[in-house]
Formats: sequence, structure tokens, C-alpha cells
Amino acid sequence: MRLEKFAAVLLAGLPLAVMAQQPATLTIDTAKPIAAVSPTLYGLMTEEINYSYDGGLYAELVNNRTFQSNRGPSTADWTILENGDARATMAIDKTTGPSEALPLSLKLTVDTAAAKSEAGIVNSGYWGIPVRPSEQYHGSFYAKTDSVSIGAVTIRIINNDTGATEATATVPTLSTEWKRYEYTLKTGAVTASAANHLTLSVEHPGTAWFSLVSLFPPTYQNTPNGNRIDLMQKLAAMHPAFLRFPGGNYLEGDHINERYEWKKTIGSLVDRPTHPSPWNYHSSDGLGLLEFFEWCEDLHMQPLLAVYAGYSMRQEHVDAGVGLEPYVQDALDEIEYATGSTSTKWGAIRAKDGHPAPFHINYIEVGNEDWFDKSGSYSGRYAQFYKAIKAAYPDIQIIATAPVTGIRADVVDDHFYRSAQEFFNDVHHYDKTDRNGPKVMVGEWVTREGSPTTNMGAALGDAAWMTGMERNSDIVVLASYAPLFVNVNPGGMQWPSDLIGYDALNSYGSPSYYAQAMFSTHLGDHVLDSKLDATNPRLFDSVTVDSKHHRVIVKLVNGSSQPQAVSINLSGAKVHSNAHVTTLGAPTTEATNSITDPTRIVPVVSTISNAASTFTHTVPRYSIQILDLDLN
Ligand code: AHR
Repeated sequence: MRLEKFAAVLLAGLPLAVMAQQPATLTIDTAKPIAAVSPTLYGLMTEEINYSYDGGLYAELVNNRTFQSNRGPSTADWTILENGDARATMAIDKTTGPSEALPLSLKLTVDTAAAKSEAGIVNSGYWGIPVRPSEQYHGSFYAKTDSVSIGAVTIRIINNDTGATEATATVPTLSTEWKRYEYTLKTGAVTASAANHLTLSVEHPGTAWFSLVSLFPPTYQNTPNGNRIDLMQKLAAMHPAFLRFPGGNYLEGDHINERYEWKKTIGSLVDRPTHPSPWNYHSSDGLGLLEFFEWCEDLHMQPLLAVYAGYSMRQEHVDAGVGLEPYVQDALDEIEYATGSTSTKWGAIRAKDGHPAPFHINYIEVGNEDWFDKSGSYSGRYAQFYKAIKAAYPDIQIIATAPVTGIRADVVDDHFYRSAQEFFNDVHHYDKTDRNGPKVMVGEWVTREGSPTTNMGAALGDAAWMTGMERNSDIVVLASYAPLFVNVNPGGMQWPSDLIGYDALNSYGSPSYYAQAMFSTHLGDHVLDSKLDATNPRLFDSVTVDSKHHRVIVKLVNGSSQPQAVSINLSGAKVHSNAHVTTLGAPTTEATNSITDPTRIVPVVSTISNAASTFTHTVPRYSIQILDLDLN
């Protein structure tokens, strides 16, 4: 929407008496930087929740490719195919699988089958198998047969509504030993659609066993076993400084034996056993530890690795001491896997896994939300990890997930799940934080308004909160919104109010997504001394300077239902009269984006020509504005 139209929509229908708030004054001393802005302030937090990876970022299209559910072996998302006169059954076979990590398989017993009467198995994908025209899909599976007479396996993508075959490929006769097969599916002039399914079928009787049935569309930077292009592009547009992974509750697991065991997520996919996750669906671990680091590399983000610290969510913990040593060693191995040279044990394994160059780590987080641990064991556990990690890696900053005693944490991780009003009321939260204490990471924060993704009211709460973090970013050095992703299909969401939504084919950013992107692409390097005088309790500001570009960046958030005039006084500084204004706004707080209306609320860039040392600017109701004021 063009800005004039946007402004007209915002102002329409308001009685004159309530047209505006009392004018506010923002006084800025451009010669007085008062604190450095953390260059790593805005990052991402991620975990397997809401089908973030499986059925989300991780581009795999086959759902339940290794026949496991959170409750054990399962044929979920698979059905039997009996075309024409074909007769067949399928069942989990726990006696045979392609590897030690994947000891079971799906057994297909075909009693009757023939050409045009094929028998086989069907996968419904993650709410469909998406196809686009003229695209190549790379697939593979492990299989064996009891007799080569079962013949070739034909793989098809079939449209759910029309029955049309959208793409087809054939794998010649199966072997009687477990073997990996590859296939390529090519679409022609098909209509883009998610309403498709995948079939693997045969034309002769016999028995075949399948495992790790896989199909990938083109991925970001064509990486094998890679990520969805649209979602990576959306993340790239946020210019995130870091990625906090792998959780969240996903790191802890419900039980100690369901924790994130990184060693089981590396190497060939057939050697990854997969694992139950606390968000009630099974994790394929196709996006494993190395893939997290490669994701960081692709988007130029610092990895912020959280290591399992001996606490799982059902109040299971390991006390500090000898019992905790294996967990500490596991964390040291993990750091060596990521950062060690190829002459180290774990660095060499990383090289064998395909990434000889080491990654660099500045931050390690010990656990997640350990304030939930009622045993009071966290201070001891943190200290044990801290000492061991510091001894080996003195430059790494070690983040505590709860206040600790007996040791000083480098950084403490705060989490906020709030309403917009709660954030409005608390934007000065960090103003008085002790500058001599630990630094702060706000590792999870969000305005929880709107579902599945947040609405304009949430974006206003977020933006207000960001002004407070930014003004205090000498102490708040890292901040990441959570959760990042949600699959918006029925049953896809475990946690409402998320940043980016998608189905199998399309994705969109919430208003909060755009607010984040606006803030992170207008960061600046120093906070300028400024003072906002306003009677409007829903007006917020942050002023930084981008020294390299001689630019003052003014962020204004008007969470009220009325426009807000602000007299901006730059205390004598020479300011270019033309300035860019980036605006995110909507007529109501309930307005939002959705999978069917993905760009209703997006930032609009306009130009003002009255910028000066002192000038008046009006911020529309329910809007977030960023003014780029260039200094002469
Ligand atoms: O973001 C959802 C969950 O909220 C995270 O997994 C957990 O850390 C927090 O309680």
C-alpha cells in the first residue's frame, strides 16, 4: 500500500476531537553518544516446535521417513496402495532395517499386482507434497526384497484432487540386501499445488522392506539435505546476528533419555536414530548439529550453542559432581566438533561429515530455563560446565539460564512471554540494570497476541520492547524472539503467536517479523542521548547513530489509536531536509498477515522533505516508524 493511502486509512473515521494526542517532544544530542549498541543485538532463536524443521525449514517432503513416532514405531502418514485388483498389506517389521541406528522398516507384502494394478505405499507428506512447474526433485530410499521377481519400484507424485501423475521415476529391481536407491522426479507444466501425495509401487507380487524414504525439492544454495528456499530468504532479510540453538525445551527433552543428544544427529542420515521431542512429534534429526552450524554459515550468523546441562523438563536432573562429568565431557566434545581443527578427534569427525573448516563460537549457553529446576541444582551445574569450558576455551562467554550463586555468570538469559500492554509498561526494564553485573541475553521474548502468527498489536508491543532493549544494548547484548516458525496447517502448531508462518508451498511474515526486520536493519552503532516528553503513554522511542553513514536513526512507536505529532529537536545539528521514513502500521491492532493474505501489513518506505535541526513529524496511529536522518 502506498503511504498516502495508508495514512488515509489510518485517519479515516476519527472524530476531530480525538484526531491527535498532545504533541510530544523528542530532544536529541547528536554530539553525545551515551553507549555502544551491541552489534549482535538482534538474532534468532530456534528449536523443533510447530514443525519448525520437519515440515518446515528442513526441506524433506516425506513425513515419517523412518517409521517412528514419539510413541514408538509407527506407520503414521503412510497408507497402502492397491490399484485395480492389487492386494497388499504393510506393517512395521522390527527385525530388519538398513543400519544399527534404524533397526526397523516398513514391510510391504504384495499378494497380487500387475501393470495398471500396482501395489505399494503412499505418503501424504507434511500436509501435502508440494509441486511447482518445471522443477526437479531428488529422492532416495533404502530397500530390500525377498525375491528380485518383485521387479522395479515406480515412484510418482500424484495430485490428490485429479489423480493426475505430476512426475514419475523408476528404480530397477530391488536387491535382496539392504541398499540405497536414488531417483529424480521432474515436473512439467503443472500447476503449483500442495495437494499431492507420493507413491512407491510395484507391478509383481513379493515382499519389500523400505526405510529412510526421502524426497527433496530444490534447496537453499542447492545444498543436499538442505533447507527451504523461501524460509531461508525470509530469515536472510532479517539480517540476524546470531542463531540460538538447539533449544528451548527441545534441548532438555521431557526426560533425560529424551534430551538433545548431538552425537546422534551427525553423520550419514542412515546413522541417525531420530528421537522423541517434547513438542509431541518425533524428530527426524535430518537437520542435525552440523546442519545448524551450516545454517549459521549460510546466513552469516554467529552460532550460539546451548549445551545440555543435566536437567530435563519433568524435573529430572543430575547433581553437580561425578555424575555430571559425562554431560560436561559431551559438551566439550560438542564444542570440539564445532571448533576443533581436523587434528582433533571431533574436528576430524566434522571433516569426515563434510565440513573440514572449523566454526567459530563466541557464546555457549548452559541449559535452558533452569529456573524450572526445583532441586536448586543449577548453580552447581553451571559452575561445573563453566570451569571446564573456560579451561579449554577461555574466550568463550558462558551464558547462564537462571541467576546463579557462588560464581559470576558472563551473561544471563532472560525470557519474556507477554501482552503488548505488559511490554508497554515495562520498556524501562533494563534502564537501571547494574552495568557491572553479567551481560544480558533476552533469549526468548514475544508479544503473545494473535495466532498462529502475531498481529499488529503484537508488533507494537514488540517494537516498544525493542526500543527498551536497544537503548540498553550496552548491557543487553543479544536478543531473540521465540518461537520463530509455525506450520499453519491444522495440528501444526503447539505454541501460538509465532513469527513466520507457512504451509507446504507458501510462507509469510507476521507484522512482528517486519518489525524485527526493520529494527535489525536500522541498528546503528551508538545510542544517542535523547529525551522523550509525551503525555501519550503508548509512545516509545530509541535513537541511535550510524557513525559510518553520518546518520541519526530515530525509531518511534505509536501504540495508541490516535496520530502523534512529535517535535524532533536535534540541538543544532545540520540535517538533510530529505529523509527516508519506513512505516509499519495498520488501522487496528487485530489486523494481521496470514497464509492467504501474506502481505496485508508490510513496511512502506516514503520520503519527508521537512527534516531539519528542529521539525515536527506525525506518527500515524498504531504504527512503527523509523526515520533515517542524514547529517550534513
Ligand atoms: O518458545 C517456546 C518455549 O518456551 C521454549 O521451548 C522454552 O524455552 C520456553 O518455555
